[in-house]
Amino acid sequence: MNQAIKKERIYYYEQHKVVDSMSDDVHQGFSATPKKLSPKYFYDQRGSQLFDEITELPEYYPTRTEISLLKKHAGEFSELLGENSILFELGSGSSLKIRILLEALRPSVYVPMDISKAHLIESSQRLAEDYPWLEVHANRVDYSQDWEVPDFGPGRYNAFFPGSSIGNFDPKDACRLLEQVAKLVGNKGGLLIGVDLKKEKSVLEDAYNDSAGVTAQFNLNLLHHINHQMNSEIDPETFSHKAIYNDRVGRIEMHLVSNKEQSIQIEDQTYRFNKGESIHTESSYKYSVEEFHHLVKQAGFDPVKVWTDEQNLFSIHYLQVNK
Ligand code: TRP
Repeated sequence: MNQAIKKERIYYYEQHKVVDSMSDDVHQGFSATPKKLSPKYFYDQRGSQLFDEITELPEYYPTRTEISLLKKHAGEFSELLGENSILFELGSGSSLKIRILLEALRPSVYVPMDISKAHLIESSQRLAEDYPWLEVHANRVDYSQDWEVPDFGPGRYNAFFPGSSIGNFDPKDACRLLEQVAKLVGNKGGLLIGVDLKKEKSVLEDAYNDSAGVTAQFNLNLLHHINHQMNSEIDPETFSHKAIYNDRVGRIEMHLVSNKEQSIQIEDQTYRFNKGESIHTESSYKYSVEEFHHLVKQAGFDPVKVWTDEQNLFSIHYLQVNK
């Protein structure tokens, strides 16, 4: 952890271990069978913008369903989580959902944690302006690496992990991440987490294959980002977006499928693609309430309460560390 940079009620910390490893990741992913790319490279400036657009698409039900659940039950959350807590947020991004919680919970310290420095600084500034009573300790964290956060002394610790982002980790990694969150909030600490539910395949697939093609652009933007960062010349037009629900493992899989046989040069390496060969870019696991309970218990949490919408599209869980 390097020194905190303080600006009024905003503190910024950068984890030593956040290293830029795109080159290694791309070579490793293109050498693997099947080929893959890390979803963390979706989020350059254009990617973040496209992602914000996804959350407003008619087919993409998770964001609006989660927001309405947060609004509807804010009073209950504040009773369960308690006032004056130290509140962490994982993958805070543009920090919109947290506003609903901040108003209801009135934490004394808010700790947004995200990989994007720009997002962190910008949203911390806006929050500190809008909530004069709030102290913001922004932490730049890469969840795929080990991370630690500053200790705020004795107090009530809670974490907020919205957006069903937990679903973007394979169950084993999800469990490891939840274990780290359990360590973060400590014994009797709480976690409020949004999880997308299993449902009819067509509803799931439509959410990732919107008719306006925004999710396709978002997926293809990964190739533009690589070209830009690595000076490569992948032609994104020679790839197509594909998102399918894999029933067997209970996840949406996003792929970029090569439309033709081709060779791609990246730095000093050449990679062969067959026609129809895909690059797996992201997974989004879906959980029934029972399946999610099973997962969190392995990570040391007790399920306390779960809220779902009337159509059973999305769930918000409140969990507490039991050791
Ligand atoms: N975690 C959310 C989900 O899996 C949001 C998300 C992450 C997403 N990556 C995405 C949505 C790619 C669409 C496409 O749904």
